[in-house]
Amino acid sequence: MYSCIRKILFLLDAEKAHHLGLSALTLLYKILPKRFFQLVFNIPNYPPVNFDRNNLFPHLKVGLAAGLDKNAQHYQVLAALGFQFIEIGTVTPIPQSGNPKPRLFRLLKDEAIINRMGFNNDGVKRIKKRLIHKPKNIIVGANIGKNKITPNELAVNDYLICFRELYDVVDYFVINVRSPNTPDLRSLQDKEPLLKIVSALKNEEQLLVKNNPSPKPILLKIAPDMTDEQIQDIAEVIQTTNITGVVATNTTISREHLIYEKHPEKYGEGGLSGKPLFDKSLNIIKKLRIFLSSDKIIIGVGGIDTEEKAEQMFKAGAHAIQLYTSFIYRGPSIITAIRKKLHI
Ligand SMILES: Cc1cc2nc3c(=O)[nH]c(=O)nc-3n(C[C@H](O)[C@H](O)[C@H](O)COP(=O)(O)O)c2cc1C
Repeated sequence: MYSCIRKILFLLDAEKAHHLGLSALTLLYKILPKRFFQLVFNIPNYPPVNFDRNNLFPHLKVGLAAGLDKNAQHYQVLAALGFQFIEIGTVTPIPQSGNPKPRLFRLLKDEAIINRMGFNNDGVKRIKKRLIHKPKNIIVGANIGKNKITPNELAVNDYLICFRELYDVVDYFVINVRSPNTPDLRSLQDKEPLLKIVSALKNEEQLLVKNNPSPKPILLKIAPDMTDEQIQDIAEVIQTTNITGVVATNTTISREHLIYEKHPEKYGEGGLSGKPLFDKSLNIIKKLRIFLSSDKIIIGVGGIDTEEKAEQMFKAGAHAIQLYTSFIYRGPSIITAIRKKLHI
């Protein structure tokens, strides 16, 4: 079924296709009986996962990466397709429209995407409204960032606003200090500014947990384009602030591993995701595993498009994985294949 839908969607502009595809899936999910929806997309009847809210990731293994359900409008259907956790966002305090279009490109033969969306989102207040009545058994994490107009010196306030607003309605947080598409955001990945942001959120957590007995996992999302020294700095921040762990990685600014596309410069700037990213992300996971203590959670993301690659991520030290680009190319079958192989 997905291969037919894909044929039609891939005739359209990539960004329109993403919106249309998700809206169509959501509509089908609402109108079809559950069993029929599962039959149409060949989704097995997964048994419910027994997870511990204080210890989500040893139990939850396959999730959706940030950026597809930016505004928390589709998490129910995405969970029904087999994702065990959904990361919404990146969410910023005030709504922003992102970069001028076109800003999303498919590199079909390389099974990759280049995007420079620029954190387009509805803003934290509207997004929160969509999460207030979230069913408890659907695990949603909020990936939080800063508005483009906020200077880096004040970035910490943006992260705090999103954290406070969403604390009671999501199950975990991801601090996004890395996007190739928000000017200067990368410098927030340096040790000092990073320490400031993460420590501020940890302090805020002390106040928020008073009304909420189980603290929410907090993870840091990082770039794949980093030196060993930078990875070590990141690991030190995670250890010092004692957050839950790391999501590795975001998209890459490199165009190195493209095989078929000989002129990627024609797409302009942006982050590359999908197949060409896998080796880079895997490498970062291996290094993080060396620098981090064994209790720190690693969520592996970047170019996972087969069951074998999912296994490689787990072997390298990931506790859970996330998908984005392979879901666009292969549809729900990639989730089913990975869950089957991992017996989850
Ligand atoms: C179109 C698009 C938009 C994205 N938007 C975000 C975002 O808003 N925040 C974020 O942390 N990551 C974002 N990402 C990065 C993904 O979450 C993921 O880290 C990256 O695509 C690598 O995984 P993949 O190769 O499986 O796609 C985006 C990726 C794509 C393709």
